[in-house]
Amino acid sequence: MGRASHLAFISEKIGELFGLHYPEDQWHNLERCILNAVVELKHDQGLPAICEWLAQPDIPDEEIKVLTKHLTIGETYFFREKVALDLFRKKIIPEIMSQRSGGNKYIRIWSAGCSSGEEPYSIAMLLKEIVPDIENWDITILATDLNDAAIQKATTGIYTPWSFRETSIKLQDKYFVKEGKLLRIVPEIKQMVTFSRLNLVSDHYPLASNKTNDMDVIFCRNVLMYFAPKTICEISQRFHMALKNNGWLITSQVELNDTYFSLFSRVFSHNGIFYQKTELKEDFTKSKKGQVSFFTGSKVKRSNQQDISKLKTNSPFKHVVKEPETSKPVDTESEKQNPIQATLLFAASKYPECVEYCLQKPEINSDTNLMLILVKSYANMGKLDEARTWMEHLLLINSITAEIRYLYATILIEQKEWELAGKILFCILYLEPNHLAAQLSLSDIYKRLGKNHQALKQSLNLIKCLDSWDDDEIVPDLDGMTAGRLRQMVKMSMG
Ligand SMILES: C[S@@+](CC[C@H](N)C(=O)[O-])C[C@H]1O[C@@H](n2cnc3c(N)ncnc32)[C@H](O)[C@@H]1O
Repeated sequence: MGRASHLAFISEKIGELFGLHYPEDQWHNLERCILNAVVELKHDQGLPAICEWLAQPDIPDEEIKVLTKHLTIGETYFFREKVALDLFRKKIIPEIMSQRSGGNKYIRIWSAGCSSGEEPYSIAMLLKEIVPDIENWDITILATDLNDAAIQKATTGIYTPWSFRETSIKLQDKYFVKEGKLLRIVPEIKQMVTFSRLNLVSDHYPLASNKTNDMDVIFCRNVLMYFAPKTICEISQRFHMALKNNGWLITSQVELNDTYFSLFSRVFSHNGIFYQKTELKEDFTKSKKGQVSFFTGSKVKRSNQQDISKLKTNSPFKHVVKEPETSKPVDTESEKQNPIQATLLFAASKYPECVEYCLQKPEINSDTNLMLILVKSYANMGKLDEARTWMEHLLLINSITAEIRYLYATILIEQKEWELAGKILFCILYLEPNHLAAQLSLSDIYKRLGKNHQALKQSLNLIKCLDSWDDDEIVPDLDGMTAGRLRQMVKMSMG
């Protein structure tokens, strides 16, 4: 076996054991992590020996712990991703409180992939803040993770200031005790959370014996993004079984995918999208030809649509966008005419007229092509707030293509929302690893954030992807730039 076959074997084995998905362009990372693990275990560092070791049917648990410590990414912090926590405290918990106020007062929550505990402790603090008679409620917060080292850290409950980047001073003072530069969670919050080790891929759930059943809410954020599509679908089905009727599955906003979560109803609420287990959910249409499509649009239950208008932004947009494309078959005569008329106005750079035309069409809320032209017109007029609002509306109703996602990312970049733009780009690359424009933008964002090493890695990746392009081929989404010019530009920027 050569080096590539060894790495292919290792990547397959790691997928089987933990669900973690390492495509070929990530094998160098996989190799680095595995080498760190074997160094710690004092095993032979050659790839053939590593393959032999991983091929054993029963790798000792102590070795698995070391392996997972090196393979998993535990990045997390308190009160991460406000939209999810807003839904939790403003909708889910008030609804549960009013339904169960007469007795039977219990709430069951599972933080699956909890890392070092910031997520479940944030949930506990929120419950403490919003349930007035919390002492009368039987509250379960189960927090599980594959990585034993992360669970150990969670159970000690001591954190560095880096975990508090989204936490108000008020909550820090209320629920943590200072120990030098560190902060220790207070016992009343700590005792609300039960931690245990659980592998979402190979362990059994839902089961009453490990308390993974009958959940009101499952938080599984920034975990599934590391898994292969097939694994995500399997886990999604098991989460569906683990939830009560009307229970919620909360992923991060970059992990939304109607194909993976086809058993659930998609709900737009509090400026985010979430999945709910509802009795009314029909059998969800599987994506055609087995492709993965985002926001397929058919089963949206809008509980708070007006919230879209509250999205705020603020900065000039100089980006020139290309001609709108028709990506979806159109049915009626008027639907055929709308994009054509709008396209003509757009092509003539008559953006205000184009906006006016689009807005007075009754179909503007449902016609993808018209909405796309509207977004681009607003963007070219420098009206980024409006462009973003319509973009986010578009994301809700349409099966989302990389092109639409990329446009969204460019709007966010213009608004200097680097982190969110980075997430969207990351998501595009997760689905289309060779998306050149997304790679270029991501490398630029890394530079702006001072992450020079990641920027360089991203640029090298881009150069590698460009190998299969002829110099005079036009790169999509980059305003007519050729592959040759892009190659030159990236090399120059790398010095
Ligand atoms: C990036 S952290 C997410 C932490 C937290 N949910 C958040 O959003 O801040 C991802 C976590 O998923 C865990 N993980 C990865 N594979 C897993 C598996 N097969 N089973 C359970 N947890 C897993 C990792 O150990 C890591 O702690």
